Amino acid sequence: MGNPNQHILVHRPRDLSVKWAQRVVNRFVPDAKVFGVNVYSVDVGTSTRLRIEVQHNATELVPARWFIKTPSLAIKPRMITALPRFLHKEVSFYRSLSAGIPLKLPRILAAESRFGRGSTLVMSDLAEHDFRPGRAADALSFDQASRVVTHLAQLHGQYRNKSSLLHAHRWLNGFSHQVETHMGSLMAYPFMKRGLLQAGGLIAKKLHQPALNYAANRRTIKQLLNTDSKTLVHYDCHPGNIFWAGAEPGFLDWQLVRIGEGIGDVAYFMATAMEPELRRKHEKSLLDQYVEQLTNAGVTGLDEDNLFRRYRMHLVYPFEAMVVTLAIGGMMQYETNLELIRRAAAAVEDHDSFAMIKA
Ligand SMILES: Nc1ncnc2c1ncn2[C@@H]1O[C@H](COP(=O)(O)OP(=O)(O)OP(=O)(O)O)[C@@H](O)[C@H]1O
Ligand SMILES: [Mg+2]
Repeated sequence: MGNPNQHILVHRPRDLSVKWAQRVVNRFVPDAKVFGVNVYSVDVGTSTRLRIEVQHNATELVPARWFIKTPSLAIKPRMITALPRFLHKEVSFYRSLSAGIPLKLPRILAAESRFGRGSTLVMSDLAEHDFRPGRAADALSFDQASRVVTHLAQLHGQYRNKSSLLHAHRWLNGFSHQVETHMGSLMAYPFMKRGLLQAGGLIAKKLHQPALNYAANRRTIKQLLNTDSKTLVHYDCHPGNIFWAGAEPGFLDWQLVRIGEGIGDVAYFMATAMEPELRRKHEKSLLDQYVEQLTNAGVTGLDEDNLFRRYRMHLVYPFEAMVVTLAIGGMMQYETNLELIRRAAAAVEDHDSFAMIKA
């Protein structure tokens, strides 16, 4: 029998042996055989991502190309992500929540996390299903943005005000969340300062002081942005965490999943995924669409003006995230990072978001 309790943790590329792949394949087909493993790409970023090709004889049920996420082998991202255990959170998500999520997700072949021992996520490569991974610098069309907003509304509608979710899944806003809040608050000011400098002329001078004030008061502002109706949120909806099944979006990278205000996902998405021109033109109609679809999902008593205000306030977070990512370095491709800063800064400026969170 294939034993799903057999360990599949990976620490370095050489752990990807035939024996290891055999354990994964045997979860699906107990008597299948693996003949070879070819590691054809190792990409070290916020996590280490390995692409492998596995030769086996269970091709009907198990794909040949796999995509594996393990903690980063690079020192800086490792320090930033290991303490809050982001990958552990993603493993928990796939193991205990993903089955009920009304979104397209990658196929998971195995997922394991052991305290102090590491975490590993083994997925079917998107290419196996003719899915196309998005790139973080993609600028989405109105149609694409509209589909993403529709899916976000489905997710947010389904889990809205489900406090039972938090009780059943304490890890959602648990340890990792607390550590992240503490680390984030401690580091926000120095990183914001450095990021603003490094971004040079990309961020209007008049945003600098408000951005620093935000960073200095991050904890309070984060609380303020978490007072309205809550639901399950992805919290990192930039175009690099979306994949495409033809015209339909799917969602990757659930390391930051939590309970929060749904509109925060919409703000993060629109601030990072759309050319500012296109966002300005369509954001009102995209928000109307979001409200309409939440209503279709059975949500009642929505106040559109309030939602628009919350949208404007929540734009400060993608701005912070992109600037801090630049300041940390090594977490996102440099040109891409600058592009997302440019987009998010435009959104914050258009909506006077820093003034909104003071009011
Ligand atoms: N199953 C998969 N098959 C093929 N490619 C994938 C798969 N999952 C993710 N990718 C690609 O790898 C990239 C990184 O994946 P993911 O976002 O999950 O990892 P990450 O280390 O958390 O990245 P980051 O912090 O940079 O967002 C994605 O943007 C996507 O292009
Ligand atoms: Mg990602």
